Amino acid sequence: MKIDRDACWLKKKVDMFELKTYTLKAEGPIASTIREEMPRLFEGIKEVNNTGAINIELVDDVELGAEGFQIIKGSQMKIQATTTKGLLYGIFKLYELLQLNKPIERPIRSIPDQSFRMINHWDNMDGSIERGYAGKSIFYNDNLFRKDYNIVRQYARLLASVGINALSINNVNVHAIETRLILEESLPEVKMLNDIFASYGIKTFLSINFASPKKIGGLKTADPLDEEVVNFWKDIIAKLYRVIPDFGGFVVKADSEGEPGPFKYGRGHDDGANMFGRILKKYGGLCIWRCFVYDCIQDWRNRKIDRARAAYDNFLPLDGKFDDNVILQIKLGPLDFQVREPLSPLFGALRKTNHIIEFQLTQEYTGQQKAIYYQVPVWKEVLDFDTKYDYNPSIVKKLLKNNSPVKEHSGICAVGVVGMDNNWTHHKLMQSNLYAYGQLAWDNQLSSEEIASNWTTLTFSVSKEAHEKITEILTSSRETYALYNAPNGVGFMCKPNHHYGPDIDGYEYDRWGTYHFADREGIGNNRTVQGTKFVTQYSAARCDEYNNLKTCPDEFLLWFHHVNYDYVLQNKKTLIQDIYDNHFLGVERVKNYQETWESLEGVLDEESYRNVKGLLQEQYRVAVEWRDQINTYFYRKSGIPDQQGRKIYS
Ligand code: GCU
Repeated sequence: MKIDRDACWLKKKVDMFELKTYTLKAEGPIASTIREEMPRLFEGIKEVNNTGAINIELVDDVELGAEGFQIIKGSQMKIQATTTKGLLYGIFKLYELLQLNKPIERPIRSIPDQSFRMINHWDNMDGSIERGYAGKSIFYNDNLFRKDYNIVRQYARLLASVGINALSINNVNVHAIETRLILEESLPEVKMLNDIFASYGIKTFLSINFASPKKIGGLKTADPLDEEVVNFWKDIIAKLYRVIPDFGGFVVKADSEGEPGPFKYGRGHDDGANMFGRILKKYGGLCIWRCFVYDCIQDWRNRKIDRARAAYDNFLPLDGKFDDNVILQIKLGPLDFQVREPLSPLFGALRKTNHIIEFQLTQEYTGQQKAIYYQVPVWKEVLDFDTKYDYNPSIVKKLLKNNSPVKEHSGICAVGVVGMDNNWTHHKLMQSNLYAYGQLAWDNQLSSEEIASNWTTLTFSVSKEAHEKITEILTSSRETYALYNAPNGVGFMCKPNHHYGPDIDGYEYDRWGTYHFADREGIGNNRTVQGTKFVTQYSAARCDEYNNLKTCPDEFLLWFHHVNYDYVLQNKKTLIQDIYDNHFLGVERVKNYQETWESLEGVLDEESYRNVKGLLQEQYRVAVEWRDQINTYFYRKSGIPDQQGRKIYS
């Protein structure tokens, strides 16, 4: 069945007026993609042999690197790059500039800020997606490959249009059936996907199961230093590259949440990762090793263990011990994509290991594609964050590259968001996150407002007023969500397992290491030097700032400190009053979104209008739940009434 899917921000063709011809002096799979894309993007354009209105050409310009491009508008427009991949990015940029009505007066040279711009799919072969909320997997169904290459191509073009250059196609939790993806029986289909993505300049990776030598190789061990194990992997990898010579490599979640890893054999993460690195090196492959490693069977009674410390404790001692084709992948916060978390202290501390920062496009803890949660403010917070180490540059967006020995092996990765839903992301407005992720990873200087505005222009044909309403909803949505969620950085007050909606004590007496420690006097984690000492994992300047109650930012107060409910915040309110006020305000803001959205009836296309209207009703319902449960919980615990006398259930 051919599904007419939403073309998102590539929907409208650009009217080319006088620019009706182009020349392309390049061959190969990506050049073929460019030939296919030109008439899809630009109305009535045709390829000619000699002098076209647009000249797309390979040039020798070392500074542009392998991905940069240049657009020059003279008597003849030129798009230049050193590779066909650069040219492809160039034509998507030209499309965007024309669509956004941005003049090209001076030559535009564009080189990506981050080298790695990756998406991790958490897709399972049964068609489900771990933490996926936009329908089934576009790659698999019923334990088989879905083989809908049309959808995969459409997805690849969306990704390439915003500069995504790598992707892994299966869940990091690798179940029995996906363990077989590395076997010869699966390779023809993996190759099909690989080649589609490669034709859009995207490298394909597989997540692998560390215990594969035992699970599918008939060995008794998966010890990375065992010769038979090494030979098992050598054989697997040789066969893989024989079929797919341009394959990207492996993503590994090891010794994490029950996934097997090197600890069982008394080996370190470096032993595990380097074993893969050494074998993959011969083929130009990479091993991406995740740092999401912590004790997931913690005793909640034990106040000495602090899960937040885990990534740093596990990986910092190994800094410099990883091979140059190994990349550590680190979640942006120390826990797990909560609405507010401080930066993972590994950033800035790691100086001798390639690393990438991990974001999460799918809204696991942030509304599951039912709430509006535009993520650029979150990402900018971390990318622009100054770790305050006494070296330069100490800002995250710069140090990713600077602190990675191989600059091309640094950058950003994000957990994917798309599924079989016709609009890809379930919530129409949340297409903006996919678009924004690519845009920001390429150009770290872009602002939240600019990206939201560009996405809105590309996606909808609306008046200036309607445009402003949409962008305002987007850019304020993260703050709105944070207002009615777990307060002041404390995190995890969501329902266990599926993580949707409030359950304040849901994780409190559990094994996952995510506690808020509320009692009748106060709430929060003592991660100071008197507490779990997590704070000491930061640079001295940041440690001092967070450790001191007076300078710790309000939004992270309960992440770092345990305080009483009548503690006065920097904003001059008591903590309890701030909790009440924020939760009332959060709900009010969602109500306002509903009203604003309903004023767009008839202005927007019917499908988008209805989609968002319906989901806003659900967002409002859940926001009210959050407000009432949180306010009631803290009122009952503290006994302190709301100064404004609003309705709190006693
Ligand atoms: C979260 C998420 C899991 C996922 C894990 C990971 O804990 O809830 O579903 O597997 O992150 O990043 O590996």
